[in-house]
Amino acid sequence: MDPIATTLAREQRAFLRRRHAEWEPHLVKVRAFLGQGLTQADPERPVLILGAGSGLEIPWHLAPKDTTGWDLDPWSRLRTALRHRRWAPWVFEDLAGGFDALAETVARSRRFGPWARVKPEAAKARLTGLLKDLQPDPEALRSWIQQHQPGTILAANVLGQFHALARRIVAQGLGSEPWEADPERPDPLAEAVEAWVQRAAGAVLEVLAQSGAHLRLVHDRAVFTAGTVPTLGAFTPRWQDQVQGTAWLEVEDPLPELDVLERIGMTPMEAQRWIWRLAEDQVHLVEALAFGSASDHDR
Ligand SMILES: C[S@@+](CC[C@H](N)C(=O)[O-])C[C@H]1O[C@@H](n2cnc3c(N)ncnc32)[C@H](O)[C@@H]1O
Repeated sequence: MDPIATTLAREQRAFLRRRHAEWEPHLVKVRAFLGQGLTQADPERPVLILGAGSGLEIPWHLAPKDTTGWDLDPWSRLRTALRHRRWAPWVFEDLAGGFDALAETVARSRRFGPWARVKPEAAKARLTGLLKDLQPDPEALRSWIQQHQPGTILAANVLGQFHALARRIVAQGLGSEPWEADPERPDPLAEAVEAWVQRAAGAVLEVLAQSGAHLRLVHDRAVFTAGTVPTLGAFTPRWQDQVQGTAWLEVEDPLPELDVLERIGMTPMEAQRWIWRLAEDQVHLVEALAFGSASDHDR
């Protein structure tokens, strides 16, 4: 099996084994948000669900007949079928069009000629340089959209996964945890990975923006890993301005510095954020944005 698909399958298993008890508020909101997109979708046109996973967040019973799931995890379709009794058409490809090249580049950074291995510190520096030229291209997604012309596309909590996946591929490939532990010190490799993730997620957003479809995007906008649970004020375009109660200590941005609203380039019809307590020490800020198709905006 493709090593990236294997990593995703392992992650999904671990995710589903977690204690779900406190997920209900998130699940109610995300199912309502995505469900609305499915209810409002033109039943005569294809619908595409990116990051369809096992369908935990997706009310498949509302999906029009011509709805396709997209997820690289080889078990996602079967899990969805078991959960929803629906054997949907599926695409098992890397949505970002760049994770294989990322893994190959990590492997390259460790090789010197056919046999010699580069020392870990030198490999890190090499990889940092090589990453700068690596441009993910979501060609599979672009082609699928051109061929099928979906009227609605849902991105169901997938874009915010790119960062964690990229970091895992880099750590696995280098054979260690290569990240700088002291947050006060620079970490050029982590920054290069963030920049790659920004290009990967940004390129997907650009394809979606040009698709002409109605869009419903749900993604992790921030992850708080220490401190008290933040509260939220009224929606503001910058998520940082909406978060109140700064008693949390550590925050990660799964979409590093990526302005989703700007990349889509349309005014959202609906925009909301909520808190998802995934675990005691892992609180997610989830962002949900709905956009009409570009032609709606031209009217
Ligand atoms: C947080 S889960 C989403 C859960 C899903 N929405 C559900 O209802 O079960 C993220 C999903 O995105 C998939 N994924 C992550 N990166 C991907 C990529 N580059 N291409 C395709 N699928 C990807 C994972 O396999 C996983 O199933």
